[in-house]
Amino acid sequence: MKKTIRKAVFPVAGMGTRFLPATKANPKEMLPIVDKPLIQYAVEEAIAAGITQMVFVTSSAKRAIEDHFDSNFEMETLLESKGRKDLLDIVRGVLPRGVSCAYVRQPEALGLGHAVLCAREVVGDEPFAVILADDLIDGGDEGSCLQQMVDRYQEHGCSVLGVEHVPIEETRRYGIVKTDTPEGRETRVLGIVEKPAPADAPSDLAVVGRYLLTPRVFELLATTGRGAGGEIQLTDAIARLLDEESVLAYRFHGRRYDCGNKQGFLEATVEYGLKHPEVRTDFLKYLRRFCQPELF
Ligand code: UTP
Repeated sequence: MKKTIRKAVFPVAGMGTRFLPATKANPKEMLPIVDKPLIQYAVEEAIAAGITQMVFVTSSAKRAIEDHFDSNFEMETLLESKGRKDLLDIVRGVLPRGVSCAYVRQPEALGLGHAVLCAREVVGDEPFAVILADDLIDGGDEGSCLQQMVDRYQEHGCSVLGVEHVPIEETRRYGIVKTDTPEGRETRVLGIVEKPAPADAPSDLAVVGRYLLTPRVFELLATTGRGAGGEIQLTDAIARLLDEESVLAYRFHGRRYDCGNKQGFLEATVEYGLKHPEVRTDFLKYLRRFCQPELF
């Protein structure tokens, strides 16, 4: 019988080296796009998909994430005394009622697969989501990426990987899937390989930071050795899962911003700025002036 997806795992124990020095003391997932940290967008996406239990896999440098989802008594008292209900609602709305957070430590950054394995005890024997917060995805009119994937899970009852076409010269940055119908919206995964060179890539369909996985993957991760980059790779465990279960690749509707790199982060900042009700009008004016100063 299909189970409801209730838990999401957020691996946030990486080093974030591409964003140094910003990530020396602050987690990459706390970098804001306009006025919200990446991790909050990710948690909101999970909540919108019906998930109520958030599991963060953290390291020693990630205190700020726990603080962000905790209540801030001093700030709330101050805002209350000043009658700033608008700001109080924003602060209190970071974690809606009925949503809980758990934190587990990844003692050493041994890779994404290892980070997911660290969540095993808290997730238990049920299907779960994995969200990489540095992939910010705007699902547009079709609903959030994770909601779209949960719908696929409800239909097929198997693991679902969020995928998109990438330029072939970028395959080294992703897990790449082999599927039977690469142009289809949803298609069965026949193989998966982590960070292949373009010449070895089975397709240009890359797994992005959204997974719905059956709990069997934990057992496989526990016996998966180090792979690409000397890390324990989630991709390698999924490759083994394919021998036992169907896995679906789902080409989601929407736009992904790779906020783990500077270009993607800047594009997201501009596009979310242009959608933000408070700043969009003035920001658009500014961009026009900046891009075509001769017209002003
Ligand atoms: P990345 O490959 O983006 O690595 O990890 P990173 O360390 O975060 O960033 P760079 O490449 O050094 O700039 C993908 C995701 O897996 C998590 C990261 O936090 C990120 O969300 N991760 C990675 C872990 O939680 N633990 C690890 O050991 C490795």
